[in-house]
Amino acid sequence: MRVFIYSSHPYEQPFLEKEAGQHEIIYTSQRLTLETASLANGFEAIAIFTADDASAPVLEKLAAIGIRYITLRSVGHDHVDLARAQALGIHVANVPEYSPYAVAEHAVAMLMVLNRKIIASRLLMQLQDYRLDLLTGFDVHGKTVGIVGTGKIGMAFARIMHGFGARTLAFDPVHNPEASALQISYVPFDTLLQQSDIISIHCPLNNHTKHLFSWDAFNKMKPECILINTARGGVVHTEALLHALENDRINGACLDVYENEKAIFFQDLREQTIQDVQYTRLLALKKVLITGHQAFLTKEALTGIARTTMQTIASWESGLNVPNELTSFQPLYSVK
Ligand code: NAI
Repeated sequence: MRVFIYSSHPYEQPFLEKEAGQHEIIYTSQRLTLETASLANGFEAIAIFTADDASAPVLEKLAAIGIRYITLRSVGHDHVDLARAQALGIHVANVPEYSPYAVAEHAVAMLMVLNRKIIASRLLMQLQDYRLDLLTGFDVHGKTVGIVGTGKIGMAFARIMHGFGARTLAFDPVHNPEASALQISYVPFDTLLQQSDIISIHCPLNNHTKHLFSWDAFNKMKPECILINTARGGVVHTEALLHALENDRINGACLDVYENEKAIFFQDLREQTIQDVQYTRLLALKKVLITGHQAFLTKEALTGIARTTMQTIASWESGLNVPNELTSFQPLYSVK
């Protein structure tokens, strides 16, 4: 099959080529939008990423030019109107698992860089200022870590926190059977907010998790708490987060994702002035560490994404069952 790959970046192309087999792949660095949908004319399948727009009007245009298959090079599928795709007869599949370790380890890396003031330390070392006064952190050992979403990534994160000697609390409407072996206690969301010194978000973005971290949630958190979000920006109400950070209502935030990241991340904006005031306010805060949606970016994860993407295409072509095909019925969970 011929596959048109949107939002393609040089970092992933060698991995996709290695897994392509007999499929012909054509790349564009452009994102899928209403305007760029016609670029896929003549193809049956496209592969998209998280910043691509697969809303109903775009899907309608794709269907009209003959697209029958869409593979997502991501776990998250909040950017795809699955109901419309199904109605249009377009098959959609994601990569349900590539490396939960990549994301979990990045979350831990961000926590430790922020907590142990590693960026300030590097700057001070370069200035030959060897005083330690600005660099005090805290032990993770013995702290209470709240995990929101104990799926694949949340559990990988929990295992690392268990190794650190932290106490782990979790909130998830579905209790993971592996949790008890790690002494994870499932608690109501409010209890997790009230007791955690560190909170890490690992749930999907959907109608029930949108702005789960609301004004009310930040009011319940401990002032020492550090919030880590490597899931989706929309799970956190950005203005409420900014208010909590700017007023010392919480101690810090590690953000690999940001609510309005589509206008900023994955592009070279070096020559531009970023107009998004919430983003620039976040970036200006010393207690905030931001990375540009790179938590997945390991060789192992890129191999897994490329392999599943190409296997999915091959299965569709051969009429085989695609277990990672998404339907418009995805479970949505109530929070309380
Ligand atoms: P998963 O499907 O294995 O786990 C998600 C968990 O969240 C499930 O246990 C589910 O029951 C739980 N959940 C659902 N609704 C919830 C709610 N209202 N409150 C609390 N928990 C809820 O997914 P996985 O692989 O662990 O990925 C989690 C998320 O991480 C993805 O949805 C994606 O948005 C994000 N992600 C981010 C990446 C990055 O590079 N920053 C890369 C990969 C995934």
